[in-house]
Amino acid sequence: MSDFSGKVAVITGGGKGLGAGAGRAFAAAGAAVVLADIDNAAASEVQQEIESAGGRALAFTADVGDPEQSRAMAAAADVAFGGIDYLFANAGVQHYGTVLTTGPDEWDALLRTNLTGVYLSMKYCAERMIERGGGAIVATASVQGLQSQANVSPYATSKGGIIALSRASAIDLAPHGIRVNSISPGTIRTPLAGGDDPEANYARSAAGHVLKRIGEPEEVAALVLFLCSEPAGFITGANYVIDGGLTIKLPI
Ligand SMILES: NC(=O)c1ccc[n+]([C@@H]2O[C@H](COP(=O)([O-])OP(=O)(O)OC[C@H]3O[C@@H](n4cnc5c(N)ncnc54)[C@H](O)[C@@H]3O)[C@@H](O)[C@H]2O)c1
Repeated sequence: MSDFSGKVAVITGGGKGLGAGAGRAFAAAGAAVVLADIDNAAASEVQQEIESAGGRALAFTADVGDPEQSRAMAAAADVAFGGIDYLFANAGVQHYGTVLTTGPDEWDALLRTNLTGVYLSMKYCAERMIERGGGAIVATASVQGLQSQANVSPYATSKGGIIALSRASAIDLAPHGIRVNSISPGTIRTPLAGGDDPEANYARSAAGHVLKRIGEPEEVAALVLFLCSEPAGFITGANYVIDGGLTIKLPI
């Protein structure tokens, strides 16, 4: 595992699921982490856990879709830890619906969190990375940004947008020494994927994956840390699928 001592990672949606998993992993590897979330209780719990293990963390309440709160999140990282090296732009919400069943307000709300939130956190964190001479950004898309199923059009749109935004930003931010990649997970064991009936939903999802299981947040965190690490220094503008084979198999 790479040593991230002296580095600072901002993680959106850091209170639960993939964000909490990446927060624990970055901290265990020596980084100071900012856990930005609308759920302050959840982020504070992860902060305490990291601190109890001897790490450095700050729970920060921010709605990533709000420009002022995203800007404040980046400023807080600067004040608490002296700058930003990495951003895991990961906060997102699930929404089921079609263009027929999704109202304009629901559409806007979903895109505001899932896509505008990635843009805003990239924007304000990249400004701080430039001050440090560079950095790395990983954004959480989804297999649904690549392929689709019924009843997910707003969510799929947001995730396809994240892949395009990451690719385009990799070009624009390269002159500043910032690499940008996205990841597209299959089903991972988190509150979002578990929904109201976690064990039933996990089991149903596992059946569709070639490996016949769902993924764990720690497995996604390992990919995120690798993409931020120096050995990944030649990787930018890529989208990494981490899905237990979900998207490789034709349904025949
Ligand atoms: N779990 C999966 O199977 C899976 C698969 C593919 C993609 N994803 C994506 O991974 C990301 C993380 O999902 P997860 O499964 O960990 O979900 P989760 O619900 O377990 O955790 C998401 C966290 O984001 C926070 N959050 C939500 N809206 C926010 C906002 N506006 N500002 C700040 N924080 C906010 C929530 O409070 C929560 O703590 C999401 O973008 C999701 O779309 C998840």
